[in-house]
Amino acid sequence: MELLTKTNSWKKLENHFNDIKGFPLRTLFSEDAKRAERFTVNDVGILFDYSKHRVSNSTLQLLFELARERKLEEKREAMFSGQKINTTENRAVLHTALRAPKDAVIKVDGENVVPQVHQVLEKMFAFAEKVRSGEWKGHTGKPIKNVVNIGIGGSDLGPVMAYEALKHYSKRELNFRFVSNVDGSDFDEAMRGLNPEETLFIIASKTFTTLETMTNAHTARTWLLNELKDDRAIAKHFVALSTNAEKVEEFGIDTNNMFVFWDWVGGRYSMTSAIGLSTLIALGKEHFTSMLNGFHQMDEHFRTAPFEKNIPVIMGLLGVWYNNFFHAETQAILPYDNYLHRFPAYLQQLTMESNGKSTTLNGERTDYSTGPVYWGEPGTNGQHSFYQLIHQGTTLIPCDFIGFRKPLHNLDNHQDYLIANMIAQGEALAFGKTAEEVKAEGVSESLVPHKVFEGNRPSSTFFLEKLTPENLGKLVAMYEHSVFVQGVIWDINPFDQMGVELGKVLAKNIIPELEDESKSLNHDNSTNQLIEFYRK
Ligand code: F6P
Repeated sequence: MELLTKTNSWKKLENHFNDIKGFPLRTLFSEDAKRAERFTVNDVGILFDYSKHRVSNSTLQLLFELARERKLEEKREAMFSGQKINTTENRAVLHTALRAPKDAVIKVDGENVVPQVHQVLEKMFAFAEKVRSGEWKGHTGKPIKNVVNIGIGGSDLGPVMAYEALKHYSKRELNFRFVSNVDGSDFDEAMRGLNPEETLFIIASKTFTTLETMTNAHTARTWLLNELKDDRAIAKHFVALSTNAEKVEEFGIDTNNMFVFWDWVGGRYSMTSAIGLSTLIALGKEHFTSMLNGFHQMDEHFRTAPFEKNIPVIMGLLGVWYNNFFHAETQAILPYDNYLHRFPAYLQQLTMESNGKSTTLNGERTDYSTGPVYWGEPGTNGQHSFYQLIHQGTTLIPCDFIGFRKPLHNLDNHQDYLIANMIAQGEALAFGKTAEEVKAEGVSESLVPHKVFEGNRPSSTFFLEKLTPENLGKLVAMYEHSVFVQGVIWDINPFDQMGVELGKVLAKNIIPELEDESKSLNHDNSTNQLIEFYRK
């Protein structure tokens, strides 16, 4: 494929950028009384207002032209239809099949994968119901009270995020804990107060070889057997979520207690696969199905809506616009709902492990920047922390505000205050406050420059009715697809993660050097020094 920066639409965008970059949002709004309506998509239950972006109609038309020149429509179809678009690993990319209806037909290597997906779902539903109802008993006959998910990356972040986001809908009689870090403190703290007789471990690992997860899983087995002193207890207290039956068996988990998924599900795209078992146990079948349905609605929207009305397409292209033209290096995710406090962390893996690449599909070095840094915190907490920099700092940070009309509590005032703040932040960022306006407030001359807000700081607002399982599904799928759009524009593969390998290999070399102090060290001077310090 032609290098991005050599394409016609890219060149047109460069020229257009020079025309529009100085344009204040104040002017764009004052010249067009209907700007908000024109730059809003209201579909699949999401009001997506992108009018506070530094774009004109021409910008969007050029971005859509770019998407067409990069063959976004064809590539989107290639993904949905099971073609092996993860070329470096020769795999299909079919997280969308995980939420496809029973009668859908999606083939990989000639085989329809949808029946397998629903078979596993049925098995998950049956198991989750047994745990929820108390029918599933531990080794000593006690029902399960504690569910501990052990996994890392995509085998942790989705389950934690979804559990936290949807806690309101969860079975409160069950305790959920999540252990990911190889730091023993994580396991230690998570286990506090838990009775092994009432504890179920879910070992979540696509490969079932990940150092952190395997270390924690072995520690969990020891913890359990120290108390229950009978290997047969494993069958009642351990289940596995994996693609690797051989390794699961090797660990000692009965493969009847294994919930499978497939190599065409990427780790960070796996929360609707068997990896969602803890979410299902927490929520129950009805809410979980409704979450899958939300994902599916967004999949369909992305697949069928014209670019001009397509939320993930517009989001993805706006990201390219800021990243490559305004050289914005980060993107803030600001949910105005405390239940979404792990959503930014979840999106960090989704976006950065996907698009943090600098090699094109043909193996060339990109001469343009790719995935930005994603970060964020829930509002209003962030306002009292880092928003200062977003408003008056020297770095341009596009922001995503996410809010819901209805709260999940009955407390007076809170929701109005929360949402007023979200709306006000977007307004302040876009329009700022001029020196004249500051002076008119009677501010002393010397303080005026300090109190000026330049404005022209872009944001999107995603407004939904209520934080429900269905709406969470839509939000996650929306970001998944916007990441795909950007991967297509940048001509990189969002579905491998080779950049995590080197550190893992080097750690494996260092482990024996820490364990055996007589081993000679042949690293660089600094690495040797650090190892020696630890040994001392
Ligand atoms: O280290 C990166 C990674 O491979 C992620 O992509 C993945 O989600 C995580 O490790 C965990 O992998 P697994 O599910 O195989 O244990």
